[in-house]
Amino acid sequence: MIYDFMVIGGGPAGYLAAERAGHAGLNVICFEKNSVGGVCLNEGCIPTKTMLYSAKLYDGAAHGEKYGISSTGLAIDHSKVIARKNKVVKTLVSGVKAALKSNNVTLVEAEAEITGKTGQGYTVSANGSIYTGKRILIATGSSPAIPPIPGLSEGIESGFVMTNREALSITEPPEKLVVIGGGVIGLEMASYYNSIGADVTVIEMLDHIGGENDIDLIKILQRNYEKKGIKFHLSSKVTEIGKGEVLFEKDGQVQKAFADKVLLSIGRRPNTSGIGLEKINVLTERGAIVTDDRMKTNQPEVYAAGDVNGRSMLAHTAYREAEVAVNNMLGKRDIMRYNAIPSVIYTNPELASVGETESTARSKGMDIETIKLSMRFSGRYLAENEGGDGIVKLVLDKERKTIIGAQVLANYSSEFIVACGTFIEHGLTIDEIKKIVFPHPTVSEIIREAIFQY
Ligand code: NAI
Repeated sequence: MIYDFMVIGGGPAGYLAAERAGHAGLNVICFEKNSVGGVCLNEGCIPTKTMLYSAKLYDGAAHGEKYGISSTGLAIDHSKVIARKNKVVKTLVSGVKAALKSNNVTLVEAEAEITGKTGQGYTVSANGSIYTGKRILIATGSSPAIPPIPGLSEGIESGFVMTNREALSITEPPEKLVVIGGGVIGLEMASYYNSIGADVTVIEMLDHIGGENDIDLIKILQRNYEKKGIKFHLSSKVTEIGKGEVLFEKDGQVQKAFADKVLLSIGRRPNTSGIGLEKINVLTERGAIVTDDRMKTNQPEVYAAGDVNGRSMLAHTAYREAEVAVNNMLGKRDIMRYNAIPSVIYTNPELASVGETESTARSKGMDIETIKLSMRFSGRYLAENEGGDGIVKLVLDKERKTIIGAQVLANYSSEFIVACGTFIEHGLTIDEIKKIVFPHPTVSEIIREAIFQY
């Protein structure tokens, strides 16, 4: 049989592309070597959010006196949190499998490798068989970056050093956790383990945590976590992983942080090796597959979506890229845009961002204005955040009077940042946004409040 479409990888990019193509009537096969759902569903987005929800409930109750709640006898059972996480993941994995089935996708749970091209199409080997298809989507995802730090590979082998995978499955929580890398994974995991009582230290190479996020919000977030007991070492370079310790250089001096466990979260790299890209000469650059704005690679009918193209390593980007790829296969013109993709760090409080920050806009030489407002201008925020110090920041195009970026440090911001994404996508002006009604009382009203500061 010759398939219309072969998908390599069953993560968010792969499974969604397979579903959409199957729904459109293509004859689709999808290969997955681990578990469908990929990193996001099995050892990323969903497991972390499940665990962080338990931590948030616990934290809320532990500091509940100011809301009239007593915390006497309060406890969190990490192993039960992990058990629930496993249940949620299992449910969602079966959901993805069911969706593939209902869209007539053939799922092959085996490692696939592209072997070449014949007159009938591309060939892929998996499970000892050869499959042929007219089109391919490469959606093999990414893996944790492992830098050449002395003692690191020994640390990983012995289980002393964890990646996100182990940090989301150990049933015995560490008393002392050192997190290398204060980016998204580092902060979310530091938040969880801090909430359940671990002594957490974050070592970050840059002079700030939180990557490209707005520095004003990041500083407040850091201050919040320092109050909760997390220690941050910024501008610090890890030089060695020893036995029960991490050595790092800070201010020209070698210092030590002691740990029962270390989490390595210094970024991820696209999975491009071992999948046969060289057999059909797929172009890569700095380890990522090169794609155009229709998710096409340099080879005809070969597409790449998700982390493997290194554009924006987020599950929701992968979903949209998958749809763009499938639409183009089906002959429907569709273009991928990256200027309004929201991103969220699911700390407590959450930090949600979309579009430009003040600093990215200025570095591009854009003529901007910013509006900064305390979250305390939202009644709902005040009702639910005793002593809260969150802020919202809007970045405006000075001439066009449109929003080009928004950042919100407050819980629920993950749920409404898409509104700002919509304003950006549609180029709405301040005056147009002023006429939009927000539900009251909601934390989202802060966007309206901020707009009216203009
Ligand atoms: P990241 O790129 O977010 O952060 C890595 C951090 O490590 C950076 O701050 C970097 O400066 C630092 N770093 C790099 N080398 C270092 C070293 N040798 N010593 C100390 N610090 C060092 O990467 P992360 O957190 O590993 O996440 C990987 C990917 O997963 C990201 O692309 C992220 O978008 C995605 N992700 C998204 C989530 C979300 O949307 N909520 C949650 C978790 C992951």
